[in-house]
Amino acid sequence: MAEDLKIIKGERKEEQYDSLVPQIQALLQGEDDLIANLGNVAAALKEQFAWLWVGFYLVKDEELVLGPFQGPVACTRIRKGKGVCGTAWAEAKTLIVDDVDEFPGHIACSSASRSEIVLPIIKDHIVIGVLDADSAELGNFDHVDELYLNKIIAMINT
Ligand code: SME
Repeated sequence: MAEDLKIIKGERKEEQYDSLVPQIQALLQGEDDLIANLGNVAAALKEQFAWLWVGFYLVKDEELVLGPFQGPVACTRIRKGKGVCGTAWAEAKTLIVDDVDEFPGHIACSSASRSEIVLPIIKDHIVIGVLDADSAELGNFDHVDELYLNKIIAMINT
């Protein structure tokens, strides 16, 4: 398997995802280890979008526990209903936060984070983890990210 990603710069977000999604599909093909796959998905997203932080938290013993990620060190455990991640878990829905300072209870793993998207990963109707992306820019995430990140989550064999 060739591991080099083709990264396109300066294009519209949709074009970047359209280029990246098939490459992620290829990376996931033939591998069923969840941690290996989450690691490569985080790396591919970070390389394409240069977000501040992108990665996964997985539900373990009624907490979210830090999983594979790319970016600065992060808090390791988040309780249900706490922060953006814990709220996305509790409500089993995607949260897009344009300005993290305006989200009550936002957990600031990095003071450079300005906006965030968190998507639940659902298996058999149960949230088993979340995908979290943070940006150093305000209002960086929208429903285009939600659409494509959900496509990527659906490609991961959980
Ligand atoms: N900001 C998140 C915590 C995780 S870090 O951003 C990586 C939250 O409020 O849940």
